[in-house]
Amino acid sequence: MQLSAIGVPVEELDTPALLLDLDRFEQNIAKMSDHFQSRGVAWRPHAKAFKSPAIAHQLRKAGAIGVTVAKVSEAEVMAAAGIEDILIAHLVVGPHKTKRLAALQRYADVKATVDHPDHVAPLGEAARTAGVTIGILVDVDLGLHRCGVASAADALKLASLVSETPGLRFDGLMGYEGHTLMIPDHDQKQAAIQEAIGTLLTAKDVVERAGLTCRIISAGGTGSYQYTADLPGITEIQAGGGIFACQYYTQVCGVEGHRPALAVLATVVSRPAADRAILDIGHKSVSQYRTPPILRDYDNCPVIGLSAEHAVVELAPGEDFPIGKKVAVIPGYSDFTFVLHDRVLGHRWGLVEVVWPLLARGMLQ
Ligand SMILES: Cc1ncc(COP(=O)(O)O)c(C=O)c1O
Repeated sequence: MQLSAIGVPVEELDTPALLLDLDRFEQNIAKMSDHFQSRGVAWRPHAKAFKSPAIAHQLRKAGAIGVTVAKVSEAEVMAAAGIEDILIAHLVVGPHKTKRLAALQRYADVKATVDHPDHVAPLGEAARTAGVTIGILVDVDLGLHRCGVASAADALKLASLVSETPGLRFDGLMGYEGHTLMIPDHDQKQAAIQEAIGTLLTAKDVVERAGLTCRIISAGGTGSYQYTADLPGITEIQAGGGIFACQYYTQVCGVEGHRPALAVLATVVSRPAADRAILDIGHKSVSQYRTPPILRDYDNCPVIGLSAEHAVVELAPGEDFPIGKKVAVIPGYSDFTFVLHDRVLGHRWGLVEVVWPLLARGMLQ
């Protein structure tokens, strides 16, 4: 990994380059961390966006208890870097993955989720063979209709099966209210989140009345945390991507008080018309998932098209975009932008201060 960019003025970097404004990044982290602390709820940021153990450690220093990931391989990268409390908020299926999950337990507490009885026996067997215990959360469908058991009664059945399976430890429940994130109206969004989280808390009551303790009730994402963290009963929030505040969170999900910290630095490579500039970024370097990227410093010059390696910018009259000029572009969605880059360059006062390799990039298994 080249660290030679450290100390280089941002405008002298070659492009495309993934940039992180460290002052804004730290403000966003403080905003989220303070929010959770003031509500007495733990923070387990989802690392699927940033893919970087170094960033995970920054979040730990700011009070996060550990991380959430989606993949066993992401958990392996985080555990190898010394992150000790990890939740795989995804189903772990197949002998390769269950063995790896079991092996990891000697290095970190890596919990997994289940939403079907068929998940349970292979996890128990892998744990017993490795001589370890695996912590398990039962995933409850909160209305997203992705994974998750469909009822509190099913949650109880599965929780009982887990707690009776040697090698497994029943730790609690999780759910993700992902269907509520883009509701524009404040009151409607609050009501939808209350209903979704209500489903999780009802399941918790049913499970606990049967004598099983839910040490963990995990939910929430960046698009919902400003509502979900207020609901008593949730023990931890999985919101992660908000530390970057891309367009998706601030504009589409209406997340308040975060400042865009992530940008892709691009170069103007062509000026085919007076009102058109072409940048050397495209789908292979920036995401336009849900909403287009924007130029950070030019509100009046929208990005009107992306192809694989080109971005088309519509120039306002009088804007001077000579070939070779560099511009910072705020991604549509940070998640799908990080996966395109090997490293992120943190900068302050116009200079690159730190280079973080995205070590979990490409970790899909
Ligand atoms: C299980 C789970 N938890 C939490 C999140 C929220 O992550 P973020 O805050 O990065 O949007 C997601 C997003 O897809 C998710 O799938």
